Amino acid sequence: MTDSTAPVAYPQSRTCPYHPPAAYDPLRATRPLARITLYDGREVWLVTGHAAARRLLGDRRLSSDRTRPGFPATTPRLAALRGRRTALLGVDDPEHRTQRRMVLPEFTLQRATALRPRIQQIVDERLDAMIAQGPPAELVSAFALPVPSMVICALLGVPYADHDFFEEQSRRLLRGSVPADTQDARDRLEAYLGELIDRKRKDPGTGLLDDLVQRQPSDGGPDREELTALAIVLLVAGHETTANMISLGTYTLLQHPERLAELRHDPSLLPGAVEELMRTLSIADGLLRVATEDIEVDGTTIRAGDGVVFATSVINRDETVYPAPDTLDWHRPARHHVAFGFGVHQCLGQNLARAELEIALGTLFDRLPTLRLAAQADDIPFKPGDTIQGMLELPVAW
Ligand code: HEM
Repeated sequence: MTDSTAPVAYPQSRTCPYHPPAAYDPLRATRPLARITLYDGREVWLVTGHAAARRLLGDRRLSSDRTRPGFPATTPRLAALRGRRTALLGVDDPEHRTQRRMVLPEFTLQRATALRPRIQQIVDERLDAMIAQGPPAELVSAFALPVPSMVICALLGVPYADHDFFEEQSRRLLRGSVPADTQDARDRLEAYLGELIDRKRKDPGTGLLDDLVQRQPSDGGPDREELTALAIVLLVAGHETTANMISLGTYTLLQHPERLAELRHDPSLLPGAVEELMRTLSIADGLLRVATEDIEVDGTTIRAGDGVVFATSVINRDETVYPAPDTLDWHRPARHHVAFGFGVHQCLGQNLARAELEIALGTLFDRLPTLRLAAQADDIPFKPGDTIQGMLELPVAW
C-alpha cells in the first residue's frame, strides 16, 4: 500500500511535454508549500504557490550559493557540480551584483531590440536551408538549436564554427548520463573558453567577451577564472533554454490548431502568446535555493539549512492567479509568471529570449503555413523531468 501523505518524489518526468508531470497533481493542491523527497532520500520544501514564490525568490535569506552546506541537488549530476564555481546563477551578493553589473548592459531591452534585424536574418537563413532540403525536416537540429546558438555566439564573440563541440558539452552538462560525464563536460567547456579568452586578450574581436577581456581586474573587470565562469553560464544558458522553448513551443502550437489559427489571424497577439507559452511550458522547472535563516511563510517555518525548490510549472498554474490555468489563452495577462525566475537572479537573457521566440515562431509559421508533425505526436521524444524541458527531436513536414 502506498502512503498518500508521504512526500512526492522529485523530479518526475512529464507525461505530456507541455503539462506538469501528472505525479505533481497532489502538489498543485498543496499551496504554497509542499514537502518532496529528492533522489538521495533528503526531504526539502517545494514552493508551489505564486505569491509565496515571488516573495521567496526576492528574499535574500534564500541563497543560490551551490557550495553552501545544505544546498539541494535534485540529481546526481547537480550534486557532482557542487563545489564548482558557477557564475551569476550560483553566487550571492555582493559577488552576484558585481558580476551582473559587468554583463547587464549587453542584455537590456534596448540591446535586444537592436539585435532583432540580426536575429531575423539568422532565422531566415536557417529556414531557407531547411526548406531547400525538405520536407521533411528534424526541427530541433535544423532550426530550434542553431538559431539561439548563432545568436549567442554573435553576442559573445564565440566562433559558431565550434558549435558541435559546445552544444555537445552543454548537452552532457545538462543531461549527462553519469556525474563524471557532467564534470568532464564542465572541464572541457572551461578549457575551451579559457583558451578563447586568452586568444582574445592578444587579438580582440567584436563581442561581449572581447569587451570584458580588455577591462582590467584593477578597473573592476573580471580575472581569467571569473570571465571563463561567466562565459560558460552565458553560452550554455544562452542557447539550450531558448532552443527548448522553440521546439516545445512549435509542438504545443501544432497541438492547438485553434490557438495557432488565432495567432495567424492576428499576429499582434504574438508577444502575449510567447508569454503564455513561457507560463504553461515552464521549461526551467525546479529552481534551487538553501535557507540561511529561518523564514516564516504563511504560518510555516522554513528552517535555516533547509533546501527549497521552486516548481515553476506548478507555480505558473496557480489558479488563484491564472483562472483555468491549463488552458492556453493569448489574451490573459501572463506576464507575472516565474518561468524566467524572479528577484536578483531573474533571467538575464529574458529580453533576448523574448525577441528570439517572437521572431523564430512568428517567421516559422508565416513561411510554412502548412507546417505539421511528421510523426504521431505520442511517438515524438521529449526530455526527461530532471533537466530543462524540451523536445529531443521534432520531425515536421509542410
Ligand atoms: C526561453 C529561454 C529562457 C528561459 C526559460 C530561462 C530561464 C531562466 C531562469 C528560470 C533563470 C533563474 C534561475 C534561478 O533563479 O535560479 C534564469 C537565469 C539566467 N538566465 Fe535565462 N532563460 C532563458 C534564456 C536565456 C538566455 C537567452 C540567456 C542569455 C545569455 C540567459 C541567461 C541567463 C543567466 C546568465 C541567468 C542567471 C542570472 C543571474 O543569476 O543573475 N537565459 N534563466
